[in-house]
Amino acid sequence: EPRRDLEGLKVLVTAGPTREAIDPVRFIGNHSSGKMGYALAERAKARGASVTLITGPVEIAPPSGVTVVPVTTTEEMLQAARTAFPEADITIKAAAPADFRAKYPRTEKIKKEADRDDFVLELVKNPDIAKTLGEMKKPGQVLVGFAAETGSLFTNARAKVLSKHLDFIVANDVTRAGAGFGTDTNIVTLIDGEGDGVELPLMDKKAVADRVLDEALAVHRRKNG
Ligand code: PMT
Repeated sequence: EPRRDLEGLKVLVTAGPTREAIDPVRFIGNHSSGKMGYALAERAKARGASVTLITGPVEIAPPSGVTVVPVTTTEEMLQAARTAFPEADITIKAAAPADFRAKYPRTEKIKKEADRDDFVLELVKNPDIAKTLGEMKKPGQVLVGFAAETGSLFTNARAKVLSKHLDFIVANDVTRAGAGFGTDTNIVTLIDGEGDGVELPLMDKKAVADRVLDEALAVHRRKNG
């Protein structure tokens, strides 16, 4: 690997979905495969960074040489992220944490009721990990988010940059073919707080990872002289 431009830097990546138990056999989840976050961890490691990967449950193997912290729920991902964040120079939140969890997770399997066709499950909001880290952020640290959008990509993504105190966000329109969940490729727009955006073409997730790391490193250099 010729380019060791992340040597001496600590990179923290979150990846994959989180799962919230409904009862002992069911959960709330989403289609995140972990590929985007694992590609970031792999490229950061290859470029010389010391990498911590906080990951929800996925089917793929983590890159070798990175510190893996497995978690299940959004609350667990938050605790792991809060612990690792103060040490990190660059943090990239590629995970897709569940925004809601069951208000009353059942300790026994929910049974069908013979006389009812509907079932109401009460949900409660989960903490926002990126926002929590944004509030903890020290001046030299770089915090990058992802935004999974299904419309109004630019407006929604820019609002997330500002509300979560991010340096920039990687917005993907998850309705486009070859972009978002599960695929080996992605189509992303890098958007900063000023609302300036760079739309990249369809690329392999590893190439997207390199572009995101290039931009994060540039911001890190600007902030740290
Ligand atoms: O894993 P893959 O199959 O490769 O798919 C990649 C991906 C589509 C999951 C990835 O590219 C992506 O878009 N990740 C972010 C998904 C998401 O949760 O987007 P959001 O717009 O809901 O959240 C915005 C940001 O806030 C994200 O950085 C997210 O990690 C973070 N967040 C969200 C909810 C929450 N409770 N806490 C958070 O920190």
